[in-house]
Amino acid sequence: MNYKTSIPYSFLKANAFNLRWAEVADNVIPLTAADGDLPFSSEISQAIIRASENNLFPYGSAQGEIHFRSALVEHFKASKSSKIEINQVLATNSAAAAIQDWCYHFLQPGDEVLIPDPVDFLLGYCAEKAGAKVVRIPAKAQWKKEDWATAVNEKTKAVIICHPHNPLGFHYQSEDLKNIADFVKEYKLQLLSDEVWSDLVWDRPFESMMTYCPQAWVVYGLSKGFGLAGLRIGALIGPDAESIQAVMNSQGYLRTTHGVSTLSQVAGTAALKSAYAGSDYRKPIGKTLKHTIHRLQNEQSFFQLQPPQATFVLWLGIQANWDSGELCERLEKEAKVKLVPGLPQWFGPGAIGHVRMSCATSIEVMDEALNRIFNWIRTSGY
Ligand SMILES: Cc1ncc(COP(=O)(O)O)c(C=O)c1O
Repeated sequence: MNYKTSIPYSFLKANAFNLRWAEVADNVIPLTAADGDLPFSSEISQAIIRASENNLFPYGSAQGEIHFRSALVEHFKASKSSKIEINQVLATNSAAAAIQDWCYHFLQPGDEVLIPDPVDFLLGYCAEKAGAKVVRIPAKAQWKKEDWATAVNEKTKAVIICHPHNPLGFHYQSEDLKNIADFVKEYKLQLLSDEVWSDLVWDRPFESMMTYCPQAWVVYGLSKGFGLAGLRIGALIGPDAESIQAVMNSQGYLRTTHGVSTLSQVAGTAALKSAYAGSDYRKPIGKTLKHTIHRLQNEQSFFQLQPPQATFVLWLGIQANWDSGELCERLEKEAKVKLVPGLPQWFGPGAIGHVRMSCATSIEVMDEALNRIFNWIRTSGY
């Protein structure tokens, strides 16, 4: 099978932006932004069609539709061992917007925020946009109090973690979550846990930070685990109803400058309530991920990898004599495969010496991309 026929190629070429098919030259395969090439469940599109039948889209609830927030509460109970209440949930215009709202609400110029390094750029970007100084702590699968405690001073206001972690692919054990909860309590810090990847966990059940730290704030989204990136649907979950109301007030939700499309919430509810929408969407991605790991482990030694416990991205170490920016430029131009370079602007300074490969595609696309990369390694003599 031609790799292009294994995915909705023409649709993606015209519509998939953010470093993906619509933004690369013809014949380049983008294994870049964390977004899928495979269709989501038709249960979701059916729900969108049904919700449009009245030809009416009145203003929705400022906090988010009750059906969406209830579905999210049930989802957290069923799959993240976390009991939250509907009034603790604020529907947001994507996970990214939830991080930004939280940062604008809690951070002031002069504050310091501790985040892992490397980590997805959004954590540092949103904190800096709110005027805070970002202090980076080496990201480790096992959380170490001493690494974080030495960075605390009187200006330290908050900790933001990424759980599961993009790009390293770990998710914290219960012990780590308890230690993080104790740490923020001891130092009286705000805590935000970005859990947008929490539906893509491969090794053991996921536990939300909320389970161990009722004061924590959690970011959630349906872009990764359900393939709904373009619908911009996510949530900010807070400790209690009052805290959520305070964010809504400070960020403009009560004045209609914020708020999520009601149609996106319909899709979100359908996804969260369906028995199969999530697992059917994730199963082929998991297969491609496993297949990619197998080929990378058996057919080359240019990239080093640690198989991830979660996410569909691979964080690949590269030979020390290579700069990741230059490597990615050469791979795009010569091998016709685009990866994300481990540059500080994407992941922080701790990303040096790595590239990131997304595996949210068909096995055929991935095989074509890997064949091109391996061939490039062989023929360029590296
Ligand atoms: C760790 C992390 N947080 C937030 C986001 C943003 O997700 P969304 O597109 O749903 O806003 C991403 C996207 O890749 C991510 O990796």
